[in-house]
Amino acid sequence: MKFFIDTANLDQIRKAKEYNLIDGVTTNPTLFSRETGDWREIAAKICREVEGPVSLEVIGLEAEEMVSEAKELVKFGPNVVVKIPMTEQGLKAVNILSGLGIMTNVTLVFSPLQGLLAAKAGAAYVSPFVGRLDGLGQSGMELVEQLTTIFDNYDFSTQVLVASIRHPMHVLEAALIGADVATVPFSVIMSLVRHPMTDKGLQQFLDDWKKSQAK
Ligand code: G3P
Repeated sequence: MKFFIDTANLDQIRKAKEYNLIDGVTTNPTLFSRETGDWREIAAKICREVEGPVSLEVIGLEAEEMVSEAKELVKFGPNVVVKIPMTEQGLKAVNILSGLGIMTNVTLVFSPLQGLLAAKAGAAYVSPFVGRLDGLGQSGMELVEQLTTIFDNYDFSTQVLVASIRHPMHVLEAALIGADVATVPFSVIMSLVRHPMTDKGLQQFLDDWKKSQAK
């Protein structure tokens, strides 16, 4: 499973890169709103910082606007994937962009049939929002399973990009299902590293070593 980081924060991207864990980046307007400075400069820096795909989202709601924004967004780098909302106009835009060879990530996917339509329109990625579904008392991971099965059934090249991840169990379940990508917030990535038994075991090794050297 590929790991993307779900952030527009360059420090987080640089720190996560030190572990060579990051295969790509996803952003959205909310994530950019948390950063200071011109979003264009930040987007350009992110695209230079990582080799893998960087999702940048359109703001327009009409297909023509989305297509024209997409044409601007791809100028940030060859690794840009244009994030398009799962709407009628969004599907129209995905179809046009796919014809132009521009990769798209269809975002805000909450049902398997939305995902199927996005794949048929030519999306490179679909993003099921697992955390937000769980928050409604529905199973985000069931949606990931359904999308994975549907894409396998019909040999779609569209990748399932698990989004809205809230905790390590989401990452584990996505990997067990065989999702193509999980886009993970920095705090969750770091919590995957840590285990109290690792800390306890390491302390024990160091204490024993110190004792034996003092003899
Ligand atoms: O970037 C898309 C998605 O991962 C956002 O998730 O629900 O934490 O805003 P959320």
